[in-house]
Amino acid sequence: MAIEIIGTGRAVPPKKVSNDDLAALIDTSDEWIRSHTGIGNRHIADESVACSDLAVEAAKNALAMAGGYTGNDPDQRDKAAEQAAAAIDVIILATATADFFGTPSTACVVQSKIGALNAMAMDITAGCTGFVYGLETASGLLSVNPLRKRALVIGSEILSKMTNWDDRGTCVLFGDGAGAVIIEKTLDNRESGLLYSLLRADGSGNESLVMRRGGSRNPYKKGEVVDTGICIEMNGQEVYNFAVKAITDTLETLMKTKIEGLGDISIERIARIIPHQANARIVQAAAKRLRIPIEKFYLNIEEYANTSSATIPIALDELNRSGQLNKGDLILTVGFGGGLTYGGNIIII
Ligand code: ACO
Repeated sequence: MAIEIIGTGRAVPPKKVSNDDLAALIDTSDEWIRSHTGIGNRHIADESVACSDLAVEAAKNALAMAGGYTGNDPDQRDKAAEQAAAAIDVIILATATADFFGTPSTACVVQSKIGALNAMAMDITAGCTGFVYGLETASGLLSVNPLRKRALVIGSEILSKMTNWDDRGTCVLFGDGAGAVIIEKTLDNRESGLLYSLLRADGSGNESLVMRRGGSRNPYKKGEVVDTGICIEMNGQEVYNFAVKAITDTLETLMKTKIEGLGDISIERIARIIPHQANARIVQAAAKRLRIPIEKFYLNIEEYANTSSATIPIALDELNRSGQLNKGDLILTVGFGGGLTYGGNIIII
């Protein structure tokens, strides 16, 4: 049995906000943001756009590709996506910025909007590691049931609506976006597709990256006047240190993993590493510790900033659609984020 990726897609809001645009609104500068994070821009969704809207667009692009259509005609894309949606058995949507609090899941909203009438649908909360977790969860659900064949895995975020725009320490870091993949179970014994996932958590750090208000721990009270809505609070230094170790440990472990028929995972054998991108300096520090050339890491943080669970599938789709993925390429993903969670996937294209 193999779990192959047969379609990828992404959706990013057209509105691009540069560091200079932010510097006109808050006490920051292009120089500070670039030198501390590597971020140059972020894309911000319009007020009316919610998590499921970006997720649906990314999903349709991935579904259309799975159905054989990669062109730019919106009607043809929708037609191909609609046909492919009927064959989806599982929808997993990773997000920290769901359409609704608690219920319904954003995955169910997406299921309805794309017409995947035969699919189960659920969200997972694993912070920026959400897509890495989602891929393994979907793969497991396909593996255990002979009747399930195809899954749609999405990472989608509207972080701009969960950001405290008065906190310059966090608001410059985030952007909006969504990425999606279609995976298919095949019965051939091929060493390709999703081969292995490492999933880990360190819940002792749960307060270092937290949306404190609105849950059962700290609900809003009737008549309460609030200064900000639900927003991300982060201990930047703590998360930074955790993140460098999480990337280093995950890649070290993945590279030592023995998979029958694959051989050693040497640096030379790896075509690309797709890291979660919260800060380019985190990736650079991990690369240096591991003595892996930075060119192996696919970085697009300059354009999108940190899009949490969407970062890895957006990057995967960019690589795929620009022809930078070749049959047989070995790809490692590595994520880390709220929870605290971390982990990675080994994928052969
Ligand atoms: N513009 C200008 N100055 C700023 C800004 C800003 N946007 N933000 C902070 N500063 C100032 C601070 O006030 C401080 O000034 P002071 O020395 O006068 O007090 C100075 O810059 C240094 O602040 P630090 O917080 O120490 O800056 P640091 O170099 O640690 O960088 C950062 C902060 C970028 C947040 C870093 O800690 C980081 O990347 N942490 C990890 C973030 C991360 O991985 N997040 C994961 C998120 S996952 C998920 O979100 C969903």
